[in-house]
Amino acid sequence: MKKILDIITEKMQQAFADAGYDASFGRVTVSNRPDLCEYQCNGALAAAKQYKCAPILIAKAVAEKLDAKDYSLVEAVMPGFINLKLSDAFLVEYLRAMREAPDFGVEKIGAGKTIVVDYGGANVAKPLHIGHLRPAIIGEALKRLHKYLGYETIGDVHLGDWGLQMGLIIAELQERQPDLPYFDPAFTGEYPAEAPFTVDELEEIYPTASGKKKDPEFSHKAHQATLELQQGRRGYRALWQHILNVSVADLRKNYDNLDVHFEKWLGESDADPYIPLMVEDLKARGIAVQSEGAWVIPVAEEGDKKEVPPMILIKSDGSAIYATTDLATLVQRTRDWNPDKILYVTDKRQNLHFEQVFRAARKSGIVGANTELEHVGHGTMNGKDGKPFKTRDGGVLRLEQLIADMVDFVRAKVVENKIVEESAVEDTTRKIALAALKYGDLSNQPTKDYNFDLERFAAFEGNTGPYILYTIVRVKSILSRYGAWEHLRIQAPANAQAKDLMLAITKFGPTLEAALKSAAPNLICAYIYELAGCVNKFYHETPILKEENEELKAGHIALIGLAKDILEQSIALLGFAAPEKM
Ligand code: ARG
Repeated sequence: MKKILDIITEKMQQAFADAGYDASFGRVTVSNRPDLCEYQCNGALAAAKQYKCAPILIAKAVAEKLDAKDYSLVEAVMPGFINLKLSDAFLVEYLRAMREAPDFGVEKIGAGKTIVVDYGGANVAKPLHIGHLRPAIIGEALKRLHKYLGYETIGDVHLGDWGLQMGLIIAELQERQPDLPYFDPAFTGEYPAEAPFTVDELEEIYPTASGKKKDPEFSHKAHQATLELQQGRRGYRALWQHILNVSVADLRKNYDNLDVHFEKWLGESDADPYIPLMVEDLKARGIAVQSEGAWVIPVAEEGDKKEVPPMILIKSDGSAIYATTDLATLVQRTRDWNPDKILYVTDKRQNLHFEQVFRAARKSGIVGANTELEHVGHGTMNGKDGKPFKTRDGGVLRLEQLIADMVDFVRAKVVENKIVEESAVEDTTRKIALAALKYGDLSNQPTKDYNFDLERFAAFEGNTGPYILYTIVRVKSILSRYGAWEHLRIQAPANAQAKDLMLAITKFGPTLEAALKSAAPNLICAYIYELAGCVNKFYHETPILKEENEELKAGHIALIGLAKDILEQSIALLGFAAPEKM
């Protein structure tokens, strides 16, 4: 469906033309004085300069040409603004069309396009920690948003499953269990199907090994193991596969718990087969040059405000690094999916890394001009006191623990307030906890840091996820007391609160588009907070079920029903859902 702003802008342009002025002056904007009007056009002020005439005269002449049935207010005011309020008829017709149309009439701006969202950022053999919360939540929301607006979406977790971290684990395992067949180069039989460690052991092995990096002998072993793994040593590959399997099963469980789901579980290792040919080609074409024994791609550009160092392609010891795998991953993604857009959601401290990779990809032609590359760098989640989040003993808090803390906090409330019968406690708790966590995060601009505050995020009042859920649940309960309502028609606004609510509903599509364009799920949060506020004001000012006029009552019900549907769709895009009762 066309956006209201576009519809009334077109009509305004026609009015300018009809009054004898250039149509391009007829741009309408949302009013910045909602106390005076809903929309406004300031074009007469600019037109006045061109036509050398008082702006108010132009505004008046244009206003006369507008179709009165579209507006309840058309007013030319000094010095030359045109103030507008939509008529009931216009709004009713628009909302009815929204309700009839698939997906509330949002424009499918991504139709026919493919986007890859690279998010999550998990590393194999390391448990997810709180630093993994934001890329998971933001990435999932952006992916769902793109999908809703028509894109073909591919979410890829891009596992950290290659490089030194793997060599460290292999070296440590060899010290602990040297007799395992994986370490015997002469072994030609079949390796055991069962991994020689559990996930808990694995998560202990990695930090231990990592702590020994400074020991030159151990470090050498780990580097050697990394190299041999990458060169394809059979036993190491088999061991690595065990590490991957055990770890991915655990990661999957944790992401499922957050309702975060990836279409692809590819990783850095999947880029490995593309590296040799890519490097050879880059060298042959002179894109990669030698520098102090390494191969690098210079990516500095004229006009750079900061120094952008060359991207290191191959280190002097012959090994590939993080940037190499990211560049090779672009070879794979372009070849397999030819996406129109690739979005990377990681900590903003990786800005420079992505700048280098993107530039190298463009310079080398690995990525063509038709593919947009964008890094959504997010800020840090700090503790309530604004300081980095630490456990009591100074360690990094596991994501699992953070979620468990939130769930426990919410469960206590659910139980204490006897919100639902016992059988529904867990499901209700989980839904509220997820809403608290995700909304608490997504309501902030992604680039900004924020403070994690359990009590505030889980509060049922204020700008929180649970408040949004509460609003939905309240409407659901009214609807179920009313009975079948889906067939009811939207009617003219019964009061000022109804009109505000209707206007808010019409902003659904434009808000989603704006959120997509600036990769900002916080715009959706701000929108549903406003929408929920309108629902609640309407509810408080209007006797809904007590209304005796059945016709009027049906109109109220249709309106809050539509608002509820839009709220529910919006939170689904953000990655959470409402319980039945609250
Ligand atoms: N595993 C990486 C990390 O922990 C994040 C991966 C992000 N994606 C990418 N294509 N580099 O920092």
